[in-house]
Amino acid sequence: MLQISSLTKTFGKLKAVDNFSMEIEKGEVKALIGPNGAGKTTVVNLVTGVLEPDSGRIRVDNHCLLKLPPHKRTKMGISRTYQIPKPYPNLTVLENVLVSSYFGAGLKGEEAMANAVESLKFVGIYSMADKYAKELNSEQQKLLDFARALATRPKYIMIDEIGAGLGVGEQEEIASKIKELGKKGYGVLYIGHLMKMVKAVSDKVIVMNEGKKLFEGTYEEAVNNEEVIKIYLGEKYAKS
Ligand SMILES: Nc1ncnc2c1ncn2[C@@H]1O[C@H](COP(=O)(O)OP(=O)(O)OP(=O)(O)O)[C@@H](O)[C@H]1O
Ligand SMILES: [Mg+2]
Repeated sequence: MLQISSLTKTFGKLKAVDNFSMEIEKGEVKALIGPNGAGKTTVVNLVTGVLEPDSGRIRVDNHCLLKLPPHKRTKMGISRTYQIPKPYPNLTVLENVLVSSYFGAGLKGEEAMANAVESLKFVGIYSMADKYAKELNSEQQKLLDFARALATRPKYIMIDEIGAGLGVGEQEEIASKIKELGKKGYGVLYIGHLMKMVKAVSDKVIVMNEGKKLFEGTYEEAVNNEEVIKIYLGEKYAKS
């Protein structure tokens, strides 16, 4: 289980994450939603170790992560995608994913290659393997980022915004992949503003606002919750 307890992170006077707690079990897909600036990406940065919390705890399968640097957290089975992906522009798509195979998953030689190919095929961009990352458009770069995150062989994966620039068919495809990760036994945190994707992927939905957890429940409960409608979804959505 990935367990986040009473996490707080301030930037100057701003409480970006405020006494926030949540858990993800293996095999479970949870969506984390909320207005811009709610603190979603900051939670991810705290879990991966890019940022240090002011207080709170983060545990993976009962091991405390807080004293570990980011690369050791990867080894503990934590992975994430980036809201704005930063691939190595002058490496090919395959080479980008191989970096995760070698340095994230700790694989070598043929095993590293097979793992990279598997990740690219799963995400659906294997046909672009020999292109330079800089040749991809922004949504393809997000898919590459997804493949890189998977190639570290995580137990828990946090997907920070994917699908926004894709067509409806492609969104459905990526949603089914995310869902499949849950079935394969990964613990998944899906962050996004696309309610269709949220509905398609999630067992549970967490709503965050001003750093705090506002709500946790099923998708149906979330979209019928008055406070969630007021703060995030809006009247229009509720009536549609
Ligand atoms: N490194 C930082 N330094 C200062 N302020 C930051 C930093 N990172 C985030 N913030 C601020 O913390 C708040 C939460 O930001 P965060 O990126 O976590 O929001 P978010 O929920 O991911 O929003 P979005 O839906 O737009 O991606 C925002 O007010 C943001 O400006
Ligand atoms: Mg964000």
